[in-house]
Amino acid sequence: ALALVGPRDLAGRHVVVSAGGTREPLDPVRFLGNRSSGRQGVALARAAAARGARVTLVAANLAVPAPPAVDVVPVETAAQLRDAVRAAAKDADAVVMAAAVADYRPATPQDAKIKKRGDGAAPAIALVETVDVLAELAHDRLRDRQVVVGFAAETGDADGSVLEHGRAKALRKGADLLVVNAVGDGRGFGTDVNDVVVLDGRGEVVATAAGSKDDVAHAVWDAVLARS
Ligand code: CTP
Ligand code: CA
Repeated sequence: ALALVGPRDLAGRHVVVSAGGTREPLDPVRFLGNRSSGRQGVALARAAAARGARVTLVAANLAVPAPPAVDVVPVETAAQLRDAVRAAAKDADAVVMAAAVADYRPATPQDAKIKKRGDGAAPAIALVETVDVLAELAHDRLRDRQVVVGFAAETGDADGSVLEHGRAKALRKGADLLVVNAVGDGRGFGTDVNDVVVLDGRGEVVATAAGSKDDVAHAVWDAVLARS
């Protein structure tokens, strides 16, 4: 049995992981959301707990159960996620933003259900930008020597490859590490396997990992430990 026990190399550390996808209300029954299941974030939380960390999991609408032995803070919206992550990050050694956070939210969520107009015309929905939690954490540095990690789900497009978009994002965000994850074509969202490149804040590749989301999670914590 002892051989099944891995390293406790995160013992004594507090880590914060955000997972899942935010939901931004339009009215009491409708929201703008995304397809993030939370599997990668849950795997990160499980791996950190197995390695001895105290784990705070800020959980946005998970499609999978949270692991045992972690402190779960449930949230719905990007604003709630921001508050919960920042509160937990004050004494955290690492913060990993695996959640898919809405970039925009409806400007004026309605208190009552929006009724169908019935005249053949469609209403327009005004949006406002949300706060970029990762960029803000990287800028504010709530605690000394805290390792701030982002995730970037990318598809290549006419403007660049997955890696090119990842590099640009690493430079833009200011995080210590950015885990770049290729999505689309059945990869990434909702699946049990993952394929990632870990970049540092200058966009240099510091690690690659492929395999289960648990394998990727352990590779991310290895990269975090290498920086702390
Ligand atoms: N993120 C965040 N707050 C937001 C939006 C994103 O903290 N309001 C975080 C995500 O949790 C992730 C990282 O930023 O760790 C990258 O998210 P992504 O959506 O890939 O980056 P964006 O800058 O929003 O770029 P785009 O959606 O245009 O690809
Ligand atoms: Ca985004």
